[in-house]
Amino acid sequence: MMEGMNVTIVGGHGQVALLLAKRLADAGHRVRSTHRRPEHAADLEAVGAEPVLVDLEDPMSDLDGAVAGADAVVFAAGAGPGSGAQRKRDVDLGGAVRLIGAARDAGVQRYVMVSTVGTERAHVSGEMGPYLEAKRQADEALAKSGLDFTIVRPGRLTDDAGSGLVAVAGHFGRAGEIARDDVAAVLHEVLEQPQTIGHTFEVMDGDTPVERAVATLA
Ligand SMILES: NC(=O)c1ccc[n+]([C@@H]2O[C@H](COP(=O)([O-])OP(=O)(O)OC[C@H]3O[C@@H](n4cnc5c(N)ncnc54)[C@H](OP(=O)(O)O)[C@@H]3O)[C@@H](O)[C@H]2O)c1
Repeated sequence: MMEGMNVTIVGGHGQVALLLAKRLADAGHRVRSTHRRPEHAADLEAVGAEPVLVDLEDPMSDLDGAVAGADAVVFAAGAGPGSGAQRKRDVDLGGAVRLIGAARDAGVQRYVMVSTVGTERAHVSGEMGPYLEAKRQADEALAKSGLDFTIVRPGRLTDDAGSGLVAVAGHFGRAGEIARDDVAAVLHEVLEQPQTIGHTFEVMDGDTPVERAVATLA
């Protein structure tokens, strides 16, 4: 177990991000979470995180300040369903790449990416294509950044209660889903287990306890 890490979560008011912040804070880590709407600060404080205002689409926004002094950063932002291709490029790709630069500049080596299954299908038509392409390019940029990366690719996210039981694989080759709370548990465990550095893996509902499933990534 890693003692008392400083973790900055970018996209900190997202649903997975809030669940992760609470888990990290409860485990004794210090969490800074970025949010883009001032009125969300109280929600972050409620889960034990220090709120920092950052809009990834605003070049003047102080991402460097949010990352300074962190031991690890987590990219959990996303333009979300209904956003156009440009916003997906700006947030899902541009934001992730901006965080690579900020981490490097601040001397933060550890970067955990919330990615997705399906990046190999970036050519599909409709809204998913630009999203998957943005995620694919973001993952590629991180993998060649020289940072200590882990790329976590969940299946379709649900709001079900977490079961604490998951399956991990390099590539499942099938559709699947996972509760957001279980994704948060996996991200927490990835931060606790340094042997996950350099790994890119998919995660879905399964029957292996999270800690043991993550430990298989050796
Ligand atoms: N949905 C799925 O089935 C699925 C499957 C696999 C992977 N994923 C990935 O998992 C990620 C996390 O999921 P989630 O459900 O936690 O997503 P979410 O609740 O939509 O959270 C995304 C966060 O990104 C923030 N954001 C958007 N634009 C931003 C900007 N310009 N600057 C800073 N922050 C910005 C949003 O801020 P606001 O709160 O202000 O809107 C939101 O808090 C998704 O982004 C997606 O890439 C999703």
